[in-house]
Order: sequence, then C-alpha cells, then structure tokens
Amino acid sequence: MNPIMHRRHFLLAAAAGGIALLPAPVACAQDKRPPARLDVPYVPTPQDVVDRMLELAHVAKSDYLIDLGCGDGRIVVSAAREFGAQGLGIDLNPERITEARANAKKAGVGTRVDFRIANLFETDLSRASVVTLYLLPDVNVKLRPKLWQQLKVGSRVVSHAFDMGPEWPPERTEDVGGRTIHMWTIGPAQKAPAADGGRSRA
Ligand SMILES: C[S@@+](CC[C@H](N)C(=O)[O-])C[C@H]1O[C@@H](n2cnc3c(N)ncnc32)[C@H](O)[C@@H]1O
Repeated sequence: MNPIMHRRHFLLAAAAGGIALLPAPVACAQDKRPPARLDVPYVPTPQDVVDRMLELAHVAKSDYLIDLGCGDGRIVVSAAREFGAQGLGIDLNPERITEARANAKKAGVGTRVDFRIANLFETDLSRASVVTLYLLPDVNVKLRPKLWQQLKVGSRVVSHAFDMGPEWPPERTEDVGGRTIHMWTIGPAQKAPAADGGRSRA
C-alpha cells in the first residue's frame, strides 16, 4: 500500500472504530489534569506486523524497547514475552495505559515492562536501544531530531507505515501482508553536527 493509501486507510480505520479523528481530547479523570489532545488516533498494529517489526529490529533480551504511543501495549508486551526484552510504553490516553498494564499482567511480563501516561514528545528516550512507532508522517518528522539527539549509536527505530521524510531514508523497508514497515539504525552520522544544520544526516 502506498503512503497516501495507507494514511487514508489509517484514518478510515480510526473512524470506523468510532474514534474521534485528530486532534482528540482525552479525559484524564484520575489525576484531574485537563484533557490531553492526541496527535494520532488509536489504531492497533496487527500482531503479524508487530512480530516482524521486532524481528527487523533484532530485539533481544538485552534490549530496552520504548513504544511511543503504545496503545494497548502489544508491541512492548510482545518484545518482553517473545524475546525477554525490557520495555516502556507511553500513551497520552489513560484508557490505553490501563489496557496495556492488564495485557502485560495477563502475559506474565508485568515485571519486565512499564506503561506510563505521558506525551511522546516529552519522554526521555536515552535508555532505549529500540524505539517503535505507529504514528503519522508529520509526527515522525517532528520526532526525528529527538531520536537523533537522545538515542545511542546502534539503537534501532522501527516504524509501522510511515517513514521519516527524505532527510533520513530507511535502511530497510518491508511489506507485511500489505502493511509497510521501515527500519533505521542510529549511526555516527545522526550524532555528528551537520553542515546543513541537521536537516539531512542519512
Ligand atoms: C496508531 S496508535 C498505535 C498503537 C500501538 N503503538 C500499536 O502500534 O498498536 C497511536 C497511539 O498514540 C497515542 N498518542 C497520540 N498522541 C500521543 C502523544 N502526543 N503522546 C503519547 N501518545 C499519543 C494514541 O492514544 C494511540 O494509542
């Protein structure tokens, strides 16, 4: 599926699921904070795509995976259950975090993973050796400087559906049953000060 078709499919899937399209206010009853506004609607990644994302990132027991916008936690839970990795899921929607914690407990990985209500743009990524994303093209591009700045050399980034713009072409792109996944590895080029002010570090 090409990116335009996928974006349309993504937004239709969100609408079909009865989910408000962007930006959607999310009530945060427990802590009386004002409702947060989501940058991306909730659409879960199919399990076969999750499995391939983790394989593509070569997730292992030594890894610490962060899923930015974790939904029901399936990527973090799968990384812990299938590969013994540790992980953190971040979502601005408290309902998703409640689901994710329940799913981790059910899978028996509650001690290896953590789920927090937080904004993905304000999350410290420095501990991650793998970051996973299923967001939107403009959100990926906005996140790019943070990924370059905070991730260590050798960390892997895997995105379902959307790339990081022409300034950071993916190292690998695969089709999984009509879904696209992209993978990048942070290298010295992403850490070095660039002559063009950091716009292009492929
Ligand atoms: C397309 S879903 C992906 C869910 C999960 N990663 C997956 O692949 O199954 C995007 C998720 O991002 C969350 N989200 C949207 N904006 C966010 C933000 N600014 N900070 C944290 N999470 C956000 C939504 O609540 C939603 O659960």
